[in-house]
Amino acid sequence: MTTTSPQTPAQPSYWNQAGGQAWVDLQGLMDGLNQPIADAVIEAGFPGKGGCVLDIGCGAGTTTLDMARRLGPAGASVGVDVSAPLLDAARAAAQAQGVANAQFLEGDAQTFDLGTAAYDAAISRFGVMFFADFDQAFANLRRALKPGGKLAFVCWRSPADNPLAGAPADAAAPYLPPMPQPDLNAPGRWAFADPERVRGILARTGWRDIEIAPLDVDTPIALPDLMTLSLRMGPLGARLQQADEATQAKVLAAMTDRLRACEVDGKVAMTAACWLVTARA
Ligand SMILES: C[S@@+](CC[C@H](N)C(=O)[O-])C[C@H]1O[C@@H](n2cnc3c(N)ncnc32)[C@H](O)[C@@H]1O
Repeated sequence: MTTTSPQTPAQPSYWNQAGGQAWVDLQGLMDGLNQPIADAVIEAGFPGKGGCVLDIGCGAGTTTLDMARRLGPAGASVGVDVSAPLLDAARAAAQAQGVANAQFLEGDAQTFDLGTAAYDAAISRFGVMFFADFDQAFANLRRALKPGGKLAFVCWRSPADNPLAGAPADAAAPYLPPMPQPDLNAPGRWAFADPERVRGILARTGWRDIEIAPLDVDTPIALPDLMTLSLRMGPLGARLQQADEATQAKVLAAMTDRLRACEVDGKVAMTAACWLVTARA
């Protein structure tokens, strides 16, 4: 397992600055990779035609819009996110795609007033691992659901289960100053890797019928696209910019060699190893 897996920062400022802009710029690429994960979370959280669904950490709104179409015109799909640039992209996508039954709220889902018993279900694709206080967030989300309402989200399993996530940073490590060891339990990409931690948070905050199942999705990706993702997401790109030209060239060559070794049929054979978590309010 890598020691240098980038931990996506949790702070709202990150999602409103470089992090949010990177997600806006690369959303098309990531949506292509992650569509099977969207399908799984929507299937698990769908409350029936005409229902009202909250999409937590909705980002650029792809899952919110997919859910809105599935709910039909009598239903409502509401995305909440802390990132203004991503919400701008979500609203633009809703307009461009003519989806009238989707709306978007700007706020921290941990504390934002989402109403009481307002939703039939809540879903999230990778949007629930960034809260400063998980217990407060999941209590707030449970309050927003009707009794018996469904929760369905997907989060990452461990870096060990997702070895390619850290491979670019590992390849770069010999050429760059050492990085402090990230705390994988801190809010961020890997915070829900331990299923017992997730189960504990949900149980403490009043959720029942908690089920946590592995979800493995093959996400083959062209090598230049994976290089772009690696350099735009997380700290690696910024660190590389601070290096001199010769070091940059060595890092890019090492990353390319490392990823080329994982190519199958012209694509890097990446698999997203996730948990699909479901529960009821
Ligand atoms: C990894 S992205 C996933 C985005 C989207 N769900 C998708 O699948 O494309 C995480 C999202 O969570 C949002 N987020 C982070 N902390 C949040 C918070 N406290 N409240 C609401 N949204 C938050 C970020 O702004 C970002 O859009």
